[in-house]
Amino acid sequence: MTIRYDGRVAVVTGGGNGLGRDYCLHLAQRGAKVVVNDLGGSGAGQGASHAAADKVVDEIRAAGGEAVASHDSVATREGGAAVIEAAVKSFGRVDIVINNAGFLRNNRFEDLTDEQIDAVLGVHLKGAFYVTQPAYRVMKDQGYGRILFTASASGLFGHPWQANYAAAKAGLLGLMHVVSLEGERHGILANALLPTAHTRLAAEMHEGWMEATNVSKFLGEIDFATLAPNMGVEHNTPLALYLVSERCRSTHAAYSAVAGRYAHVFIGSADGWSNGVGRLATPEEVEAHWGEITDRGRYHLPHSVYEEFLPATERVKAGSR
Ligand code: NAI
Repeated sequence: MTIRYDGRVAVVTGGGNGLGRDYCLHLAQRGAKVVVNDLGGSGAGQGASHAAADKVVDEIRAAGGEAVASHDSVATREGGAAVIEAAVKSFGRVDIVINNAGFLRNNRFEDLTDEQIDAVLGVHLKGAFYVTQPAYRVMKDQGYGRILFTASASGLFGHPWQANYAAAKAGLLGLMHVVSLEGERHGILANALLPTAHTRLAAEMHEGWMEATNVSKFLGEIDFATLAPNMGVEHNTPLALYLVSERCRSTHAAYSAVAGRYAHVFIGSADGWSNGVGRLATPEEVEAHWGEITDRGRYHLPHSVYEEFLPATERVKAGSR
């Protein structure tokens, strides 16, 4: 165990079940002092109970580790502040935040209610703001921090009946991009994780989404029999733990874990097409050059808005020739 967290304080939201619980247990085992935050509701975010967080804290203490429970909801400004306060009061600092709390309220796009939209954006996206802002201030003063946002393949690649959830999860990617750019000079690194695991959230998927046969037809092609032994939460933990370690150099990036396969997930911009300087393109020209506009043979991975301008300028110059 060369990757350790001795002297480090980790906050894991939604740490009472599933993925978050496993992160907590392994962080503590490797020396971190852990704040196990969990509201303790159902997989659809209904109800609340202290039991989920308390049980994980008991497990950590029984194994000789240090942990405290937080039963606050990440989905309110006060709740997020209280989670970070628990870390500072109990352990004096915050080195690691894993934004992981969340639930599902799936529905067909046209039927999504305000309540389903607000609750899901509230816990995943706004919750990440409410927890990470106070943590970031502490990390900035310390000159050190590791932040992990739990995104989802649903947000980056799409999943029917999850427009609310996918929008929240894709939103976390935007949040990660900006936090990582601003945080870098303060020693704060931020990344996003797209996990996959068989957890209680599976019961909230609702089979109705399979009416989208353009997606569900691919289910039959997946070799679930081979992957089954790797679908536990523990196959996500090695990547999550690396990304919040002192040794991690990555920032401003997203990584996917699927059944023990770990991979960088990235958004690129194709080299594209340009008509050149001072020559306004017509919609017909856009149609005519669609092949070049969408050609992924040459692409760029801009690190910020402005870095997209550099290759774009080359293309505009080339269009003039
Ligand atoms: P889970 O239901 O086992 O764990 C989520 C935990 O968050 C629960 O213990 C729940 O009580 C807690 N929570 C919910 N609302 C909260 C709130 N307002 N404040 C504090 N805690 C709250 O689910 P799982 O599967 O472990 O999910 C963890 C994260 O990973 C979620 O953000 C989920 O969207 C994400 N994810 C999971 C995938 C999977 O395949 N299981 C795939 C992609 C993303």
